[in-house]
Amino acid sequence: MPTIGVFDSGVGGLSILRVLRQRLPEAAYLYIADQAHVPYGPRPLLEVRGFAEGITRYLLSQGADLIVVACNTASAAALHYLRQTFPQTPFVGMEPAVKPAAEQTHSGVVGVLATPATFQGELYASVVERFAQGVTVLQDTCPGLVEQIETGATRSPKTRAILERSLAPMLAQGIDTVVLGCTHYPFVMPLIREIAGPEVRVIDPAPAIARQTERLLRRHNLSITGAAPGGVRYATTRDAAHFREAIQTLLEESAPQVESLIWEGQSLLQLSANSCNEENQP
Ligand code: DGL
Repeated sequence: MPTIGVFDSGVGGLSILRVLRQRLPEAAYLYIADQAHVPYGPRPLLEVRGFAEGITRYLLSQGADLIVVACNTASAAALHYLRQTFPQTPFVGMEPAVKPAAEQTHSGVVGVLATPATFQGELYASVVERFAQGVTVLQDTCPGLVEQIETGATRSPKTRAILERSLAPMLAQGIDTVVLGCTHYPFVMPLIREIAGPEVRVIDPAPAIARQTERLLRRHNLSITGAAPGGVRYATTRDAAHFREAIQTLLEESAPQVESLIWEGQSLLQLSANSCNEENQP
């Protein structure tokens, strides 16, 4: 069975992992949340690239056969570089789903919610340039939203206020489609739907990422048939107990095991295996 490495700055990539596991339940997963550095969005692209490289080296050392960069910001900063640096490894990366949005819009106005770093990256510019000719693309960075989701506040008044401030000008300009260009944002989908109303389509890229992962596994002859679910190892570069709670809340998974990792320079080291163990379980 293949091992799929998945990473993000924090809990956002869990929105991708959730769909990957539905589509490819037999694969084994190793998920890394770099919560020592969350949010990635306001950081320079070069710094984020360094994190992505360190995480990739660690995932490969743990036997990852394929890596899903489940973070738009890290994809913007590092996807191209990672493919060049690790030519033997298949990578699946995120890019804001501007293409389907541009194809589906009737009003000709779409909104993209993503981090500042994602909007600065060449990947985003090229997607807009290639696929959004003749379409008005409005952008917003939703300041503070990633931090709210990291604390588990997916329905709080503050989270609602952030989203209202971002979406109101877009709605006033006639958007009929919203692209979730950050993997944290599917966790506030219910709020986005409430604010935007039923007429506005919200595009979550996770299903397309899962399909692409399956295609890539096949292309690399990584067998995806197995008798039992492969399971998930979770790891964080910050507080294992906190991350464990987030997994329970966001994925409704009971008692996940969470490992602790620590950055030493550019490298990730395992601090403890299963640092959130029996003793911490309710
Ligand atoms: N989930 C991330 C993304 O898709 C990163 C958010 C952040 O750390 O700022 O962009």
